Amino acid sequence: MNKAIYTRDVPPDRLELLAELSSRDAVKVMVIGGLDAGKSTLVTFLANELLSLGRSVAVVDSDVGQKGILPPATISLALPDENFSSLSELEGVAHYFIGTVSPSQFTGEMAVGVKRLVELAERSAEIVLIDTTGFVTGPGFEMKRLKAELVRPDLIVLLERNGELDSLARALSPYGEVVRLTVSENAKAVAREERREIRFEKWRTYFSNARLAEFSLSEVTLTGTSLFTGRPLDEREKTLLSRAFRWLVLAGWENEGRYTVVKADEESFPRGYRSIHAVDFERLSNLLVGLLDGDGLCLGLGILKWVNFSAETLQLLTPLDEVALGEVRELRFGRMRVLETGEELGLMRRDEL
Ligand SMILES: Nc1ncnc2c1ncn2[C@@H]1O[C@H](COP(=O)(O)OP(=O)(O)OP(=O)(O)O)[C@@H](O)[C@H]1O
Ligand SMILES: [Mg+2]
Repeated sequence: MNKAIYTRDVPPDRLELLAELSSRDAVKVMVIGGLDAGKSTLVTFLANELLSLGRSVAVVDSDVGQKGILPPATISLALPDENFSSLSELEGVAHYFIGTVSPSQFTGEMAVGVKRLVELAERSAEIVLIDTTGFVTGPGFEMKRLKAELVRPDLIVLLERNGELDSLARALSPYGEVVRLTVSENAKAVAREERREIRFEKWRTYFSNARLAEFSLSEVTLTGTSLFTGRPLDEREKTLLSRAFRWLVLAGWENEGRYTVVKADEESFPRGYRSIHAVDFERLSNLLVGLLDGDGLCLGLGILKWVNFSAETLQLLTPLDEVALGEVRELRFGRMRVLETGEELGLMRRDEL
Protein backbone atom coordinates (compact mmCIF):
# COMPACT_ATOMS: atom_id res chain seq x y z
CA MET A 1 0.00 0.00 0.00
CA ASN A 2 3.05 2.25 0.12
CA LYS A 3 5.41 3.00 -2.70
CA ALA A 4 8.57 3.59 -0.65
CA ILE A 5 10.03 0.24 0.41
CA TYR A 6 13.14 -0.58 2.43
CA THR A 7 16.02 -1.23 0.07
CA ARG A 8 19.80 -1.34 0.51
CA ASP A 9 20.20 -0.76 -3.20
CA VAL A 10 21.00 2.93 -2.72
CA PRO A 11 23.59 5.30 -4.24
CA PRO A 12 26.95 5.33 -2.35
CA ASP A 13 26.45 8.89 -1.01
CA ARG A 14 23.58 7.51 1.15
CA LEU A 15 26.14 5.34 2.95
CA GLU A 16 28.25 8.41 3.66
CA LEU A 17 25.19 10.16 5.05
CA LEU A 18 24.45 7.11 7.21
CA ALA A 19 28.02 7.09 8.54
CA GLU A 20 27.70 10.78 9.35
CA LEU A 21 24.45 10.25 11.24
CA SER A 22 25.71 7.26 13.17
CA SER A 23 28.76 9.23 14.27
CA ARG A 24 26.58 11.79 16.08
CA ASP A 25 24.97 11.38 19.50
CA ALA A 26 21.77 13.20 18.65
CA VAL A 27 20.70 14.53 15.29
CA LYS A 28 17.61 15.96 13.58
CA VAL A 29 17.44 15.38 9.84
CA MET A 30 14.90 16.96 7.50
CA VAL A 31 14.61 15.29 4.10
CA ILE A 32 13.39 17.55 1.30
CA GLY A 33 12.85 17.04 -2.43
CA GLY A 34 10.29 17.23 -5.22
CA LEU A 35 7.66 14.61 -5.98
CA ASP A 36 9.03 11.06 -6.19
CA ALA A 37 12.56 12.18 -5.40
CA GLY A 38 12.93 9.22 -3.04
CA LYS A 39 12.42 11.05 0.28
CA SER A 40 10.40 8.31 1.97
CA THR A 41 12.71 5.62 0.58
CA LEU A 42 15.68 7.47 2.09
CA VAL A 43 13.96 7.93 5.46
CA THR A 44 13.03 4.21 5.47
CA PHE A 45 16.61 3.24 4.59
CA LEU A 46 18.20 5.47 7.25
CA ALA A 47 15.74 4.42 9.97
CA ASN A 48 16.32 0.72 9.34
CA GLU A 49 20.10 0.97 9.15
CA LEU A 50 20.28 3.07 12.31
CA LEU A 51 17.96 0.67 14.16
CA SER A 52 20.25 -2.19 13.11
CA LEU A 53 23.15 -0.25 14.61
CA GLY A 54 21.24 -0.15 17.88
CA ARG A 55 20.31 3.52 17.73
CA SER A 56 16.95 4.91 18.83
CA VAL A 57 15.06 6.46 15.94
CA ALA A 58 11.96 8.62 15.53
CA VAL A 59 10.18 9.29 12.25
CA VAL A 60 8.07 12.41 11.75
CA ASP A 61 5.95 11.86 8.66
CA SER A 62 4.74 15.25 7.44
CA ASP A 63 3.97 14.22 3.88
CA VAL A 64 0.24 14.80 4.30
CA GLY A 65 -0.44 14.12 0.62
CA GLN A 66 1.21 10.74 0.52
CA LYS A 67 1.70 9.57 4.07
CA GLY A 68 2.99 6.24 5.21
CA ILE A 69 1.81 6.38 8.83
CA LEU A 70 -1.99 6.54 9.29
CA PRO A 71 -4.15 8.59 9.37
CA PRO A 72 -3.92 10.75 6.22
CA ALA A 73 -4.24 14.56 6.46
CA THR A 74 -2.23 14.68 9.69
CA ILE A 75 1.46 14.82 10.60
CA SER A 76 2.49 11.74 12.57
CA LEU A 77 5.27 10.64 14.88
CA ALA A 78 6.38 7.01 15.09
CA LEU A 79 9.05 5.44 17.27
CA PRO A 80 9.98 2.20 15.48
CA ASP A 81 11.79 -0.31 17.67
CA GLU A 82 12.42 -2.95 15.05
CA ASN A 83 13.14 -3.10 11.33
CA PHE A 84 10.29 -2.37 8.95
CA SER A 85 9.88 -2.46 5.19
CA SER A 86 7.57 0.53 4.74
CA LEU A 87 6.48 3.55 6.77
CA SER A 88 2.89 2.26 6.47
CA GLU A 89 3.79 -0.52 8.93
CA LEU A 90 4.53 2.00 11.66
CA GLU A 91 2.03 2.96 14.30
CA GLY A 92 1.84 6.65 15.09
CA VAL A 93 2.23 7.63 18.75
CA ALA A 94 1.22 11.27 18.24
CA HIS A 95 -0.44 13.23 15.45
CA TYR A 96 -1.05 16.84 14.47
CA PHE A 97 -4.19 17.68 12.50
CA ILE A 98 -3.85 19.45 9.15
CA GLY A 99 -7.25 18.53 7.71
CA THR A 100 -6.39 18.26 4.03
CA VAL A 101 -4.08 16.29 1.76
CA SER A 102 -3.13 19.51 -0.04
CA PRO A 103 -1.61 21.82 2.57
CA SER A 104 -0.67 24.89 0.50
CA GLN A 105 -3.03 27.10 2.55
CA PHE A 106 -1.91 25.52 5.82
CA THR A 107 1.75 26.49 6.04
CA GLY A 108 1.26 27.65 9.63
CA GLU A 109 -0.24 24.36 10.77
CA MET A 110 2.40 22.39 8.88
CA ALA A 111 5.28 24.26 10.49
CA VAL A 112 3.77 24.18 13.99
CA GLY A 113 2.82 20.50 13.66
CA VAL A 114 6.30 19.42 12.61
CA LYS A 115 7.85 21.50 15.37
CA ARG A 116 5.62 19.98 18.04
CA LEU A 117 6.15 16.40 16.96
CA VAL A 118 9.91 16.89 16.60
CA GLU A 119 9.97 18.18 20.18
CA LEU A 120 8.19 15.03 21.33
CA ALA A 121 10.49 12.88 19.18
CA GLU A 122 13.62 14.37 20.71
CA ARG A 123 12.50 13.23 24.16
CA SER A 124 12.40 9.61 23.04
CA ALA A 125 14.99 9.16 20.31
CA GLU A 126 18.56 10.09 19.48
CA ILE A 127 17.92 10.37 15.78
CA VAL A 128 14.88 12.19 14.41
CA LEU A 129 14.11 11.73 10.71
CA ILE A 130 11.60 14.14 9.16
CA ASP A 131 9.86 13.20 5.90
CA THR A 132 8.20 16.08 4.02
CA THR A 133 5.83 16.73 1.11
CA GLY A 134 7.15 16.94 -2.44
CA PHE A 135 5.82 20.46 -2.57
CA VAL A 136 8.91 22.67 -3.00
CA THR A 137 7.77 25.58 -5.17
CA GLY A 138 5.55 28.61 -4.44
CA PRO A 139 3.88 28.23 -1.04
CA GLY A 140 5.73 24.90 -0.69
CA PHE A 141 9.05 26.75 -0.80
CA GLU A 142 7.93 29.06 2.02
CA MET A 143 6.58 26.10 3.97
CA LYS A 144 9.97 24.39 3.85
CA ARG A 145 11.64 27.59 5.04
CA LEU A 146 9.19 28.05 7.91
CA LYS A 147 9.62 24.43 9.00
CA ALA A 148 13.40 24.67 8.92
CA GLU A 149 13.35 28.00 10.70
CA LEU A 150 11.27 26.58 13.55
CA VAL A 151 12.80 23.10 13.80
CA ARG A 152 16.48 24.01 13.18
CA PRO A 153 17.47 20.59 11.81
CA ASP A 154 21.13 19.61 12.24
CA LEU A 155 21.08 18.36 8.67
CA ILE A 156 18.79 19.35 5.81
CA VAL A 157 19.08 16.71 3.09
CA LEU A 158 18.00 17.91 -0.35
CA LEU A 159 17.28 15.30 -3.01
CA GLU A 160 17.55 16.86 -6.45
CA ARG A 161 17.98 15.82 -10.06
CA ASN A 162 20.15 18.57 -11.50
CA GLY A 163 20.46 21.62 -9.31
CA GLU A 164 16.74 22.50 -9.31
CA LEU A 165 16.83 23.11 -5.54
CA ASP A 166 19.57 25.73 -5.73
CA SER A 167 17.52 28.61 -4.40
CA LEU A 168 15.89 26.43 -1.74
CA ALA A 169 19.35 25.33 -0.60
CA ARG A 170 20.33 28.97 -0.17
CA ALA A 171 17.10 29.91 1.60
CA LEU A 172 17.45 27.02 4.06
CA SER A 173 21.17 27.32 4.76
CA PRO A 174 20.80 29.71 7.75
CA TYR A 175 18.74 27.09 9.59
CA GLY A 176 20.79 23.91 9.26
CA GLU A 177 23.67 22.28 7.41
CA VAL A 178 22.46 21.57 3.88
CA VAL A 179 23.54 18.28 2.27
CA ARG A 180 22.68 17.88 -1.41
CA LEU A 181 22.20 14.39 -2.82
CA THR A 182 21.25 13.27 -6.31
CA VAL A 183 17.95 11.44 -6.84
CA SER A 184 18.52 7.70 -7.26
CA GLU A 185 18.35 6.32 -10.80
CA ASN A 186 15.82 3.84 -9.45
CA ALA A 187 13.37 6.50 -8.31
CA LYS A 188 10.33 6.39 -10.52
CA ALA A 189 7.42 8.75 -10.99
CA VAL A 190 4.05 7.68 -9.66
CA ALA A 191 0.99 8.84 -11.63
CA ARG A 192 -1.56 11.14 -10.00
CA GLU A 193 -4.20 8.47 -10.35
CA GLU A 194 -2.03 5.93 -8.54
CA ARG A 195 -1.38 8.42 -5.74
CA ARG A 196 -5.12 8.83 -5.32
CA GLU A 197 -5.58 5.06 -5.28
CA ILE A 198 -2.97 4.76 -2.52
CA ARG A 199 -4.79 7.43 -0.49
CA PHE A 200 -8.14 5.75 -1.17
CA GLU A 201 -6.83 2.54 0.44
CA LYS A 202 -5.52 4.47 3.43
CA TRP A 203 -8.80 6.28 4.10
CA ARG A 204 -10.70 3.02 3.78
CA THR A 205 -8.35 1.19 6.14
CA TYR A 206 -8.47 4.01 8.67
CA PHE A 207 -12.27 4.20 8.77
CA SER A 208 -12.90 0.46 8.42
CA ASN A 209 -14.09 0.01 12.01
CA ALA A 210 -15.60 3.43 12.50
CA ARG A 211 -18.88 4.10 14.27
CA LEU A 212 -20.97 7.15 15.07
CA ALA A 213 -20.13 9.29 18.07
CA GLU A 214 -22.04 12.37 19.19
CA PHE A 215 -20.42 15.50 20.59
CA SER A 216 -22.05 18.43 22.29
CA LEU A 217 -20.51 21.85 21.76
CA SER A 218 -21.19 22.55 25.41
CA GLU A 219 -18.48 19.95 26.16
CA VAL A 220 -15.98 20.28 23.32
CA THR A 221 -14.55 23.35 21.62
CA LEU A 222 -15.09 23.75 17.89
CA THR A 223 -12.22 25.32 15.90
CA GLY A 224 -11.19 25.71 12.28
CA THR A 225 -14.46 27.43 11.35
CA SER A 226 -16.48 30.57 11.95
CA LEU A 227 -19.61 28.46 12.38
CA PHE A 228 -21.00 28.46 15.93
CA THR A 229 -19.09 31.61 16.88
CA GLY A 230 -20.91 34.71 18.04
CA ARG A 231 -24.58 35.26 18.78
CA PRO A 232 -26.95 32.75 17.16
CA LEU A 233 -29.46 34.46 14.85
CA ASP A 234 -33.07 34.37 15.95
CA GLU A 235 -35.94 33.08 13.79
CA ARG A 236 -36.90 36.56 12.60
CA GLU A 237 -33.36 37.29 11.36
CA LYS A 238 -33.14 33.93 9.61
CA THR A 239 -36.45 34.55 7.87
CA LEU A 240 -35.34 38.01 6.81
CA LEU A 241 -32.08 36.69 5.33
CA SER A 242 -33.92 33.82 3.64
CA ARG A 243 -36.29 36.25 1.94
CA ALA A 244 -33.63 38.78 1.01
CA PHE A 245 -31.23 36.30 -0.56
CA ARG A 246 -33.63 33.56 -1.62
CA TRP A 247 -31.84 31.10 0.59
CA LEU A 248 -33.09 28.60 3.06
CA VAL A 249 -31.11 29.73 6.11
CA LEU A 250 -30.62 26.78 8.45
CA ALA A 251 -28.52 28.53 11.06
CA GLY A 252 -26.52 31.69 11.48
CA TRP A 253 -24.38 33.70 13.86
CA GLU A 254 -23.48 37.36 14.19
CA ASN A 255 -19.98 38.25 15.32
CA GLU A 256 -18.87 41.90 15.48
CA GLY A 257 -21.19 42.87 12.63
CA ARG A 258 -20.16 39.92 10.46
CA TYR A 259 -22.71 37.24 9.72
CA THR A 260 -22.02 33.57 9.06
CA VAL A 261 -24.94 31.55 7.77
CA VAL A 262 -25.44 27.94 6.80
CA LYS A 263 -27.90 27.82 3.93
CA ALA A 264 -29.30 25.87 1.05
CA ASP A 265 -30.03 27.66 -2.22
CA GLU A 266 -33.60 28.17 -3.31
CA GLU A 267 -32.30 29.60 -6.55
CA SER A 268 -28.99 31.08 -7.63
CA PHE A 269 -28.41 34.65 -6.59
CA PRO A 270 -25.35 36.87 -6.90
CA ARG A 271 -22.87 36.47 -4.04
CA GLY A 272 -20.10 38.54 -2.58
CA TYR A 273 -21.51 40.39 0.39
CA ARG A 274 -18.62 41.38 2.53
CA SER A 275 -20.43 41.20 5.83
CA ILE A 276 -22.14 37.87 5.11
CA HIS A 277 -20.24 34.61 4.92
CA ALA A 278 -22.55 31.95 3.50
CA VAL A 279 -21.73 28.26 3.79
CA ASP A 280 -23.65 25.74 1.71
CA PHE A 281 -25.12 23.08 3.95
CA GLU A 282 -23.88 20.33 1.65
CA ARG A 283 -20.26 21.45 2.18
CA LEU A 284 -20.56 20.20 5.74
CA SER A 285 -21.64 16.71 4.84
CA ASN A 286 -18.77 14.21 5.06
CA LEU A 287 -16.38 16.94 6.11
CA LEU A 288 -13.11 15.68 7.60
CA VAL A 289 -12.85 16.66 11.28
CA GLY A 290 -9.94 16.33 13.69
CA LEU A 291 -10.60 15.04 17.21
CA LEU A 292 -8.08 16.75 19.45
CA ASP A 293 -7.01 16.33 23.05
CA GLY A 294 -6.66 19.14 25.58
CA ASP A 295 -3.15 19.86 24.31
CA GLY A 296 -4.04 20.43 20.64
CA LEU A 297 -2.72 17.05 19.46
CA CYS A 298 -4.87 14.90 17.21
CA LEU A 299 -6.31 11.72 18.71
CA GLY A 300 -7.85 10.70 15.39
CA LEU A 301 -10.17 11.69 12.59
CA GLY A 302 -13.89 11.78 12.09
CA ILE A 303 -16.28 12.31 9.19
CA LEU A 304 -19.09 14.77 9.88
CA LYS A 305 -22.42 13.03 9.33
CA TRP A 306 -24.94 15.24 11.07
CA VAL A 307 -25.18 18.70 12.64
CA ASN A 308 -28.02 19.69 14.94
CA PHE A 309 -27.83 23.48 14.96
CA SER A 310 -30.38 24.10 17.66
CA ALA A 311 -29.08 21.47 20.09
CA GLU A 312 -25.47 22.31 19.06
CA THR A 313 -24.46 18.69 18.62
CA LEU A 314 -22.38 17.02 15.92
CA GLN A 315 -22.32 13.37 14.87
CA LEU A 316 -19.05 12.00 13.55
CA LEU A 317 -18.08 8.64 12.15
CA THR A 318 -14.79 7.77 13.85
CA PRO A 319 -12.69 4.71 14.66
CA LEU A 320 -11.66 6.10 18.08
CA ASP A 321 -12.40 3.80 21.03
CA GLU A 322 -14.28 4.86 24.18
CA VAL A 323 -11.09 5.73 26.08
CA ALA A 324 -9.82 8.02 23.32
CA LEU A 325 -13.28 9.54 22.84
CA GLY A 326 -13.21 10.44 26.53
CA GLU A 327 -10.05 12.49 25.92
CA VAL A 328 -11.51 14.62 23.12
CA ARG A 329 -11.64 18.32 24.09
CA GLU A 330 -11.71 19.96 20.69
CA LEU A 331 -13.11 19.30 17.23
CA ARG A 332 -11.38 21.02 14.34
CA PHE A 333 -12.91 21.33 10.88
CA GLY A 334 -10.68 20.20 8.04
CA ARG A 335 -10.93 21.35 4.44
CA MET A 336 -11.77 18.24 2.52
CA ARG A 337 -14.70 15.86 2.27
CA VAL A 338 -14.18 12.14 2.25
CA LEU A 339 -16.24 8.97 2.52
CA GLU A 340 -15.48 6.05 4.82
CA THR A 341 -15.27 3.90 1.67
CA GLY A 342 -12.13 5.86 0.75
CA GLU A 343 -13.51 8.17 -1.93
CA GLU A 344 -12.33 11.79 -1.72
CA LEU A 345 -15.25 14.12 -2.44
CA GLY A 346 -13.15 17.22 -2.93
CA LEU A 347 -10.85 19.78 -1.38
CA MET A 348 -12.01 23.11 0.01
CA ARG A 349 -10.41 26.51 0.35
CA ARG A 350 -9.38 27.63 3.81
CA ASP A 351 -11.84 30.54 3.82
CA GLU A 352 -14.86 28.40 2.89
CA LEU A 353 -15.74 27.49 6.45
N1 LIG B 1 17.00 3.84 -4.04
C1 LIG B 1 15.88 3.38 -4.60
N2 LIG B 1 15.82 2.12 -5.06
C2 LIG B 1 14.70 1.65 -5.65
N3 LIG B 1 13.58 2.36 -5.82
C3 LIG B 1 13.57 3.62 -5.38
C4 LIG B 1 14.71 4.20 -4.75
N4 LIG B 1 14.40 5.45 -4.41
C5 LIG B 1 13.12 5.64 -4.82
N5 LIG B 1 12.63 4.54 -5.40
C6 LIG B 1 11.27 4.38 -5.96
O1 LIG B 1 10.86 5.59 -6.55
C7 LIG B 1 9.53 5.91 -6.19
C8 LIG B 1 9.45 7.21 -5.41
O2 LIG B 1 10.16 7.08 -4.18
P1 LIG B 1 9.58 7.65 -2.80
O3 LIG B 1 8.19 7.23 -2.59
O4 LIG B 1 10.59 7.31 -1.78
O5 LIG B 1 9.66 9.19 -3.17
P2 LIG B 1 9.10 10.44 -2.33
O6 LIG B 1 10.05 11.54 -2.61
O7 LIG B 1 8.88 10.05 -0.92
O8 LIG B 1 7.73 10.68 -3.07
P3 LIG B 1 6.49 11.62 -2.57
O9 LIG B 1 6.78 12.95 -3.15
O10 LIG B 1 5.30 10.98 -3.18
O11 LIG B 1 6.50 11.59 -1.10
C9 LIG B 1 9.02 4.71 -5.39
O12 LIG B 1 8.32 3.86 -6.24
C10 LIG B 1 10.29 4.08 -4.86
O13 LIG B 1 10.14 2.70 -4.61
MG1 LIG C 1 7.13 10.29 0.30
